[in-house]
Amino acid sequence: EPLVFSGVQPTGNLHLGNYLGAIRRWVALQENNNCIYCVVDQHAITQAISVWGGPSELLRNTREVTAAFLAAGVDPKKHIVFNQSRVRQHSELAWIFNCIARMGWLNRMTQFKDKAGKDRENASVGLYVYPNLMAADILVYRATHVPVGEDQKQHLELTRDIAQKFNTDFSDRISELGLGIETQSGDETISSFFPLTEPVIGGPAARLMSLRDGTKKMSKSDPSDLSRINLIDDADTISKKIRKAKTDSDPLPSEVDGLKDRPEADNLVGIYAALTDTDKETVLRNFGGQQFSIFKPVLAELAVEKLSPIADEMRRISADPGYVDNVLKDGGERASVLAEKTMHKVRDIVGFLQD
Ligand code: TYM
Repeated sequence: EPLVFSGVQPTGNLHLGNYLGAIRRWVALQENNNCIYCVVDQHAITQAISVWGGPSELLRNTREVTAAFLAAGVDPKKHIVFNQSRVRQHSELAWIFNCIARMGWLNRMTQFKDKAGKDRENASVGLYVYPNLMAADILVYRATHVPVGEDQKQHLELTRDIAQKFNTDFSDRISELGLGIETQSGDETISSFFPLTEPVIGGPAARLMSLRDGTKKMSKSDPSDLSRINLIDDADTISKKIRKAKTDSDPLPSEVDGLKDRPEADNLVGIYAALTDTDKETVLRNFGGQQFSIFKPVLAELAVEKLSPIADEMRRISADPGYVDNVLKDGGERASVLAEKTMHKVRDIVGFLQD
């Protein structure tokens, strides 16, 4: 049976990329699947404390990200919403994965290279093994589908590599205990415990770019606030940011091919398409040949129309912090039950003595 898992770090400045690339797609997946959505507070502390802001910021951001999930339409009753640190099994499984994943695999992770920057000696060990914790988040529920933006693709490939190596390293034990599902691996059938999780990536907003530079991804940590639309921006701010967004001076092309080598135009068309649930072809059919002086105000109005209700709802939800805390507590309790089921088996598989 399919199970969906995804997460967002509570590191402030939740932006349009997080919403269109991930959270909005989570909402759509709720219809036909069981879903688990997580505020990954343990991932947030992998960077310098000056980056994640310290304890009160972390608490504030954990509640704010939760409010954003709920405001966007995540249903915490039918599905599970919780913060990672409540469910100890994530970090317990992450330790085992630290012993499964190879240094060489982690050395290839581009996000580590980006976030560690030049001063790699001074990066935390946690930042280095971050992808192992992410694999644990997913596999502690044996989740089959993970909706994320394009930037998480490499981490999900690593998650599959970890699952595969665990399954092979322990295959005899897994079948001895009768805990495996027969799966095809190349020519042979092996008894697997962990699924090979499918990334769910795609659509016109899989990788939103900075509004100031079409070659850089829209990011929470960009020092320029004009580079991104934050979910909590008010209508005037959204309009201003779109008006000031960098573009070239040509009119929009009529075909998607014409967006090649025009990253800023491509990005704005992608945003329009995602906000209207269509694709870039459709947007260009309507706006091909138009100047940005026409397109930008229409896009701004659309963005305000789609985003202000979410910001309003976030403010309404946040006005009662007790409500948000209860959602996380209740979700954490339900997630713990599921995670412990997996971990009990994993301890048996690995050979950890337990009752
Ligand atoms: P995070 O917190 O950086 O981002 C949350 C989600 O937003 C997506 N995203 C984007 N999508 C499109 N365009 C962008 N410019 C953009 N920027 C961010 C991300 O791809 C992500 O889906 N490692 C993860 C959190 C995580 C996780 C997990 C995700 C921890 N454990 C398990 C899935 C499953 C992260 O840092 O996301």
